[in-house]
Amino acid sequence: KAAGDPLITEIQDWNRYLGEGVDAAPYGSPSEFEAHVVRRNVPWLTADPVSSINFTPLHELDGIITPNGLCFERHHGGTAVINPAEHRLMINGLVDTPLVFTMEDLKRFPRENRVYFLECAANGGMEWRGAQLNGCQFTHGMIHCVVYTGVPLRYLLEEAGVKTNGKWLLAEGADASAMTRSIPMEKALDDCLVAFKMNGEALRAEQGYPLRLCVPGWEGNMWVKWLRRLEVGDEPWHQREETSKYTDLLASGKARRHTWVMDVKSVITSPSPQAPVTHGKGPLVISGLAWSGDGTIKRVDVSIDGGRNWQQARIDGPSLPKALHRFYLDINWDGSDLLLQSRAIDDQGFVQPTKNELRSARGENSIYHNNGIQTWHVNTDGVVENVEVS
Ligand code: MTE
Ligand code: CO
Repeated sequence: KAAGDPLITEIQDWNRYLGEGVDAAPYGSPSEFEAHVVRRNVPWLTADPVSSINFTPLHELDGIITPNGLCFERHHGGTAVINPAEHRLMINGLVDTPLVFTMEDLKRFPRENRVYFLECAANGGMEWRGAQLNGCQFTHGMIHCVVYTGVPLRYLLEEAGVKTNGKWLLAEGADASAMTRSIPMEKALDDCLVAFKMNGEALRAEQGYPLRLCVPGWEGNMWVKWLRRLEVGDEPWHQREETSKYTDLLASGKARRHTWVMDVKSVITSPSPQAPVTHGKGPLVISGLAWSGDGTIKRVDVSIDGGRNWQQARIDGPSLPKALHRFYLDINWDGSDLLLQSRAIDDQGFVQPTKNELRSARGENSIYHNNGIQTWHVNTDGVVENVEVS
């Protein structure tokens, strides 16, 4: 007679002894068994952690919302620590009445709740010339998606009264990098938010506490954190971050600029190099994320043979504009090698390109706006690697 599983037949300690009381952790933390689910840095990518990035552990997450403590961080001058009582937001330039708001003032405007992804334009920037980093955390983890609570920027601009020649807005951060970006007025008046909450609680310091700008669907660099000033002008300012950075050098030697929208994109998050298949052949859940700065995701196709054949994946959960979408393909794995790919299509009809299509259009000098199709090789042992197919 086979011995019973002691996890069934024996009484375990957690079943025998009382646990901690309700006040043991006034602000909760994840289970101690989830300690490996953390943001990670790639130290050789940048010279110093104050002007660096860490990456969201996409391979460990599900659904569409990123927990606050796992949202990737990108700062150019470290995290500013600001007491909200000492924070001010100024509106100046081509306005009828220059204004200064306290945080308390801002919380008296009507507010909205919106789910948006934020993707750094440099997400995937290391992969332009070939497969490089072994994990979707590193190839695609400069993205997060949270519920923001904030005041539509339109209300603040209306309060100040934009002059008729006010066509551009300069957003400026209060951190040591004084991040500054020019934003066209149509976008500012359309769907931008001045946010003070993420996923229901105050912004994390790393995400711009007490106030950040949300520029839905547009490159993360424009989402100015620790937002302290909005200047209205009649032309763009040509700041560092919109000239020498965040422009795309083409093969011709010309650079594309004002490439604000984050184009349609997707990635399989599991299986992936950090999330290998450990259970052998049989039922296998293939899962991933898709998003588009132009709208919602209409369809995601998945290939298990490197793009020869495609099957339509199942999108599950909310399908919101300019937010992450979660997809699944449930297969019966026969244990053979797989070349996994996903391809997203948005409601404007944009189709995610292959990496080679992207290179023939843009050359190989680019850093930003790499939305090419990712390939993962799964071997017969379930080990997964970042590869490219030609
Ligand atoms: N805002 C300020 N003030 N300072 C910064 O360094 N980094 C930008 C943007 N806003 C930055 C900033 C960049 S490049 C990105 S991708 C996003 O913030 C990152 O936002 P996160 O740290 O919340 O992920
Ligand atoms: Co960025």
